[in-house]
Amino acid sequence: MDFSTPATAPNPIDRGRIVTKPFDRIEGPLKVSGRAHYAYEFHEEFPNAVYGFVLGASIPRGKIVSIDVKQAEAAPGVLLVMTHLNAPKQDAEGKHNAPQLAGPEIEQAEQAVAFVVAESFEQARAAAKLIDIRYERGAGEFDLAKVKDSGDPVEEAPDSKVGDFDSAFASAPVKVDVTYTTPDQSHAMMEPHASVARWDGDRLVVYTSNQMIHWAHAGIAGTLGLPKEKVRVVSHYIGGGFGSKLFIYADPILAALAARELRRPVKVTLTRPQIFNHTNHRPATIQHLRLGADKDGKLVAVGHDAYCGNQEGGEAENAADQTKLLYGGENRLIRTRMAELHLPKGGAMRAPGEAVGLLALECAIDELAEKAGVDPVELRIRNDIQYDPEKGPDRPFSSRKLVECLRDGARRFGWEKRSAKPASTRDGQWLIGMGVAAGIRNNLVMPSGARATLDGKGELTIETQMTDIGTGSYTILGQVAAEMLGLPLDKVHVKLGDSDFPESAGSGGSWGANSASAGVYAACMALRNEIARKAGVNSDDAEFADGAVKAGQRSVPLGEIARSGSLSATDKASFGKLTKQFAQASFAAHFCELGVDAASGEVRIRRMLSVCAAGRILNPKTARSQCLGGMTMGIGAALMEEQVVDQRFGKFINHDLAEYQVPVHADIPALDVVFLDELDDKSSWLKAKGVGELGICGVGAAVANAVYNATGVRVRDYPLTLDKILPAMPGTI
Ligand code: MOS
Repeated sequence: MDFSTPATAPNPIDRGRIVTKPFDRIEGPLKVSGRAHYAYEFHEEFPNAVYGFVLGASIPRGKIVSIDVKQAEAAPGVLLVMTHLNAPKQDAEGKHNAPQLAGPEIEQAEQAVAFVVAESFEQARAAAKLIDIRYERGAGEFDLAKVKDSGDPVEEAPDSKVGDFDSAFASAPVKVDVTYTTPDQSHAMMEPHASVARWDGDRLVVYTSNQMIHWAHAGIAGTLGLPKEKVRVVSHYIGGGFGSKLFIYADPILAALAARELRRPVKVTLTRPQIFNHTNHRPATIQHLRLGADKDGKLVAVGHDAYCGNQEGGEAENAADQTKLLYGGENRLIRTRMAELHLPKGGAMRAPGEAVGLLALECAIDELAEKAGVDPVELRIRNDIQYDPEKGPDRPFSSRKLVECLRDGARRFGWEKRSAKPASTRDGQWLIGMGVAAGIRNNLVMPSGARATLDGKGELTIETQMTDIGTGSYTILGQVAAEMLGLPLDKVHVKLGDSDFPESAGSGGSWGANSASAGVYAACMALRNEIARKAGVNSDDAEFADGAVKAGQRSVPLGEIARSGSLSATDKASFGKLTKQFAQASFAAHFCELGVDAASGEVRIRRMLSVCAAGRILNPKTARSQCLGGMTMGIGAALMEEQVVDQRFGKFINHDLAEYQVPVHADIPALDVVFLDELDDKSSWLKAKGVGELGICGVGAAVANAVYNATGVRVRDYPLTLDKILPAMPGTI
């Protein structure tokens, strides 16, 4: 089914009997009892498996001059040592391909340079240490500040030039001209990257931890030069990904190659320290903001220059993109530039673009509000716009409730208690501050298919490549299917994460829930038609409720319909011109209250509230959990997360969870999330929008603005660690 006209007419989802209800996760009991198996934990399916260990390059650039594996090959338990000298030929051409050990050239630190397979993990790791590699080191550039001005425009983020920015900014009565920086960050998901591979004859089976089955499927098949039907990729459960697992790295490829050679299943996990440099990360940004307003705080000039770096061919961190949509202002100059850097490859992480763009924009807005003498909630409301500010009124937002989020949040949070004067509220040793920020996240949709099968017991099975990375996909897709067929949730079985199922959006960019639900909707619509035909009723008149199909006086239990054989339908949701005609985004207002220790500069969050408008909320419990996670990550971005670049070795030096700091329970007080009622009929039949990443968008800026309100210290270099805050806090003790 093609979604190309708004879902204005009521559809089965609007009944809201099961969709919109806060069901617990249906796979929850499996997870908490250890019965939900993650990639590295499949033993029976991969009998007699052996273990691979990836050895990474110790230089950031250059080439291997010599490599001696004799000692490693002779080490106990070792079955295979693979290097570029004996690795099978692989294909580099496809977009998702990820060839390993392809040659002596080194393009980044921790690039795989050797792979050891042994009877045990420990044997493989010990043998890898015996490999003697000599390198010739090449030059590289690792400092964004140094190269930022050599950056090029970015195709995906074209310059936005509207009106006459320069003269409007020059003559604006109120303005800020500030530069914010955000560091490289790592996903730091709980489950490491891991894969296990076996060959069933000439067909490869890989269980891996991956967000996007069809990308991984294309990448693994493409790299090995196999037709896709000769490869099966499975990812039933994923212990977090946050963008890192959108892509494939050494583990599935080397597991597959070695399994073919050894005729035994091969398991590979990347170790935690390897992950920080071998896989991708969120690139650092430098963001120059110039905002000009009239004396009432109404924007007249919006300028945002975002600089980032990446390896050649890498994608940009589009940190200026949200600035194109969030506020009005007639004169606009918004640009993204990307320079070449030779750090490990940068890529998508936790709301790529907006997450770090808003760390800068929403603090600059706070600075503007203070200069204008306008309350920061009020200033944002004054600058709201209901259409794409660049394209004009012909491109309205599909739905936009930012003002409602701000008003509702301010009321609930007790915003009126905030003192506008910085460093003026104290509670014992703590300087107390409150901050606000707006959030916006683009609403992306992706084609998504599913298969729906009704059996003789009247139970429904849904199969789709969609994944559940801890987000609740199993549950919400079950809810959507149950609603469509008029079944209770426990009569629906959801099977995910298998390339043998219909291709689906996968989990990324907050497109998963809405897109995959639309795929399930389409498949269930097709199945309803089949059922109606079999029941001998007109499908337009058929009602699906109480486990039966009903029309007029007639009511046939679904089990009866499928008694002589199960009924199956496959369909796919595709999305047409509505994504172009309408600006589509979800919105939030985030509020934070915190204390800053007057003596040490330590920041402790006291409470936070996010008010979100993201279309229909399919399951308020799983959606709320998404936002709690996003808020926690936003606090991390504001206060602690940073990959420190070692300029000598061109890599990130803090490469484990002891040194790459993420918030722990003790850092996170009670967080509150509210969803406003909203139906977006331009987004899908579900009238839902992406919600996961909205949770992080703007949160860190609310924290930073609260730190400023508490202390009067404006730190423009994230994260706001106490060494940056304290020196600017004289005489507060
Ligand atoms: Mo997301 S950064 O697309 O997993």
